[in-house]
Amino acid sequence: MASVVSTKTDAPRGTRAQEDSLEQILSLIEKKGYARVVDIAKNLNIAQASVTGMIQRMDAEGLVSYEKYRGVILTSEGEKIARAIINRHESLAKFFKLFDLYDDTIYDDIEGIEHHMSPPTLATIQALTKELKKQPALLSRVKSKVLEAT
Ligand code: CO
Repeated sequence: MASVVSTKTDAPRGTRAQEDSLEQILSLIEKKGYARVVDIAKNLNIAQASVTGMIQRMDAEGLVSYEKYRGVILTSEGEKIARAIINRHESLAKFFKLFDLYDDTIYDDIEGIEHHMSPPTLATIQALTKELKKQPALLSRVKSKVLEAT
């Protein structure tokens, strides 16, 4: 059986906590114009000291820098990775939204699984999303099976 070989392109990398932080930093910058440690900690529900430690490690890796008055800034490498993380989250959301699941459930579930998604698996879900959109009859059959099962 043919298999899809994993290619390491600009796929998100790093630990789960690091990915969550990069995702939050970019989303805060886009929403508010800046990302403060206190907001990152609040959104991720972790201690400010943990966020500070992570920022220092990511600073050493060239992904972010910290400025006293502007807060956390992404380097271009950090921003590239953060965008890939957000795109992956959005692709997964598009897939789950096809089935009319609750937005909160979708969000929480994606936060749990997104870090374990290889590029070929993500590409599979993206292709499946596109094809399912063209098959409303199949989609409603799946939805009624889901209703029966839950
Ligand atoms: Co996410």
